[in-house]
Amino acid sequence: MRFFKSKEYSVDKIQKSHLDPNPINELRKWLRKASRSKIKDYNAMNLSTASSDKGVSSRIVLLKEVNDKGLVFFTNYNSRKAHDIENNNQVYVTFFWPELEKQIRIHGVASKLDNTENDAYFKTRNYKSQIASTISAQSEMIKSRDVLVQNFKDVLYKNEALERPESWGGYLIEPISFEFWQGRKHRLNDRLEYYRDENEWKIRRLAP
Ligand SMILES: Cc1cc2nc3c(=O)[nH]c(=O)nc-3n(C[C@H](O)[C@H](O)[C@H](O)COP(=O)(O)O)c2cc1C
Repeated sequence: MRFFKSKEYSVDKIQKSHLDPNPINELRKWLRKASRSKIKDYNAMNLSTASSDKGVSSRIVLLKEVNDKGLVFFTNYNSRKAHDIENNNQVYVTFFWPELEKQIRIHGVASKLDNTENDAYFKTRNYKSQIASTISAQSEMIKSRDVLVQNFKDVLYKNEALERPESWGGYLIEPISFEFWQGRKHRLNDRLEYYRDENEWKIRRLAP
């Protein structure tokens, strides 16, 4: 299979002078734009982690919060990604919104949220999602889908309030750098990078 057809990007541009000095605010601006543009799953981000023995791996997770410290997502603390982060807390996340011809890359350092934050978020999840995170040992081999579904039904049938499993919780990704990318005509794309210089955020333009 080959993909020869290339399209021109033309819907927007990035002007350095219009960027917010704080990249977290710029990220919020881009997320708001994606939300207003009705991009499906605009908070889905590709998360890459690296382990010393298994190499690099990537998967999609949902961004659940952006706060002044960084980006928050939730997962299973026994999953492959969690093991990777245990060994190497440096991660990369990427957003891509084809309709807006925009990409955002963020390099950061991940750390676990504390139990109070995890419990608070677990309580906001709907009951069936709570059950799913209780019965699924994410990334472990399972015998069959039937076993998974049966375990789900058993808990659903009991209809008891659920405690957050120890193995389920969130991570905060504190950013080290950001790159905001906008597709432009003739592949002369805009790439603006925020990097830290001492304690200050600086912005530089990168060649496409
Ligand atoms: C749209 C979408 C959203 C997802 N959101 C999450 C999420 O928020 N947390 C999560 O642990 N997995 C999420 N997943 C599943 C992951 O991509 C992945 O399969 C799972 O976390 C196991 O990854 P690991 O074995 O590399 O740790 C999502 C997948 C998709 C396609």
